[in-house]
Amino acid sequence: MALLTLSNIHKTFEKGTVNENRVLQGLDLEIEQGDFISVIGGNGAGKSTLMNSIAGVLTIDEGDIFLEGQSIKKLSVDERSKDISRVFQDPRMGTATNLTIEENMAIAYRRGKKRSFFKKSVTEAEREIFKAALIDLGLGLENRMKTDANFLSGGQRQALTLAMATLVRPKVLLLDEHTAALDPKTSDMVMNLTRKIVEEQELTTLMITHNMEHAIEYGNRLVMLYHGKIVVDVKGDEKKNLTVAELMDLFHKNSGQVLNDDALVFG
Ligand SMILES: Nc1ncnc2c1ncn2[C@@H]1O[C@H](COP(=O)(O)OP(=O)(O)OP(=O)(O)O)[C@@H](O)[C@H]1O
Ligand SMILES: [Mg+2]
Repeated sequence: MALLTLSNIHKTFEKGTVNENRVLQGLDLEIEQGDFISVIGGNGAGKSTLMNSIAGVLTIDEGDIFLEGQSIKKLSVDERSKDISRVFQDPRMGTATNLTIEENMAIAYRRGKKRSFFKKSVTEAEREIFKAALIDLGLGLENRMKTDANFLSGGQRQALTLAMATLVRPKVLLLDEHTAALDPKTSDMVMNLTRKIVEEQELTTLMITHNMEHAIEYGNRLVMLYHGKIVVDVKGDEKKNLTVAELMDLFHKNSGQVLNDDALVFG
C-alpha cells in the first residue's frame, strides 16, 4: 500500500464565474513510503494547489486523499499537521519572529500534544532535544537558543523551520520552493540540509522547486505538472541519469507541447 494516495483530485477556483479556473483535473498520484519527490512545472501549473490540498489548506472538489489507507479529506489543517509538516518559500512564514529559537521549537515540538501546548517555559528535557536538532544543522544555532528568530538570516530561518518541521518525525514533509527566496549559496546549503534530514529520518517528501538542477539532483523521483496534470513521472535510475534536455524531451512526448528551459521554469 502506498503511504499517500491522491485519487482523482479535482480543484476549481471561482467556479461558475468568468474567472473559473480548473486547476486540478483528475490528478492521481501514489507516493510510496520514503519517496523523495521533486515537483516541477510552470507558474500556475497547480503545484502549490496540490500541496495545499494535501495539507488541508484547500478543500478538494472531487476525489480523495488517503494517508496509510485512511481518508484524510475531511480532516482540518490542524488535524493533518500531526502527520504532515510544511516549509514555505518565505522565511518569515515558518517562525514566530517575536519568539526565541527555543520557544519556536517548543511550539513545533508540542504540536499535536494538546496538554503541554500552552505551558510557557521550555523544559530542560525539551531543551536537550532542541539542542541536538540544532547541532545537526551545523550552523551554530545551538549556542543562540535564547535569541529571537527575528535576528536570524533567511537561510538560518529556513534551516530552523526545517528542523522544526522534522523535530517530531512527520509522515509526510511538504516543501514549497523552500529555498527560492535565498541566494544560490544559501539555497544549496539548505538543500543539503534537506537531503541530510530526509535521509536520516527516511522521510516521505514532496518538494516543489523551480530549479531544474535541484529537481534532478535531489530525490528519487521527479514529477512534472502541466495544467494540473502529471505529464512526467520518473524514478530510480531513470531519474538519477536524467538530463535537462531529456526532461524537456519527455515533457514534449507526453504533453505534445514544445518547451524550452525558460518556459518550463516561467510557465
Ligand atoms: N486561493 C486561490 N483562489 C483563486 N485562485 C487560486 C488560488 N490559489 C491558486 N489559484 C490559481 O490557481 C492556479 C494554480 O496556482 P498554484 O499556486 O497551484 O500554481 P503553482 O504551480 O504553485 O505556480 P507557481 O510556480 O507560480 O508557484 C493559478 O492560476 C492561481 O492563480
Ligand atoms: Mg506555487
